[in-house]
Amino acid sequence: MRLSLLSLSALFSGTAVIAGLMPSKIYGVNLGSWLVLEAWMLPQEWLNMGGESCSTCSSCIASEFPFAQAFPDTVDEIFAEHWNTWFNQTDVDTIQELGLNTVRIPMGYWIVEQLVNRTVEFYPRGGMVALIQGLGQLQEAGISVILDHHALPGVQDSEQMFTGQYVLYPRS
Ligand SMILES: *[C@@H]1O[C@H](CO)[C@@H](O)[C@H](O)[C@H]1NC(C)=O
Ligand SMILES: *[C@@H]1O[C@H](CO)[C@@H](O)[C@H](O)[C@H]1NC(C)=O
Repeated sequence: MRLSLLSLSALFSGTAVIAGLMPSKIYGVNLGSWLVLEAWMLPQEWLNMGGESCSTCSSCIASEFPFAQAFPDTVDEIFAEHWNTWFNQTDVDTIQELGLNTVRIPMGYWIVEQLVNRTVEFYPRGGMVALIQGLGQLQEAGISVILDHHALPGVQDSEQMFTGQYVLYPRS
């Protein structure tokens, strides 16, 4: 499938790629917290999943990395549930009904599971399956996709949930 090949090349080259033909004028929406979960966008769902909320986010389970570290046996299942309910065909239909023609999908490097060193890095597995399914549904609806390489190896910024790991200092 063309879109998934483009997404892989985007991940390996570290650049955002515009997949497929873009409309001349973009009416779009961002699929925030789908494949890179940022707990501040869904505070109650995050707690329901087993996450935590604290005043210093680096000291509790406030991002994907500590979550996967804390729940190694159930993280994939819990995130699969999140991926399937946070964005699914119902949302594709709504996006289409609203007359939007484009979505932006933020992704973390861990969606390419071979890039993750599992002795020191912890992230849910299976995101690629969710992405490919979503791309198929969007393509079917005629909606263009901007794949956004949002969270980089090593944690590119401090005190940000969008990196996948809220830390005080970026790792090297
Ligand atoms: C999408 O997920 C929502 C829950 O967020 C659910 O109510 C809805 O039935 C799901 N739609 C499909 C098509 O599975
Ligand atoms: C994974 O990380 C450990 C600890 O830093 C390191 O010893 C090992 O070489 C790494 N493995 C790979 C494949 O990079």
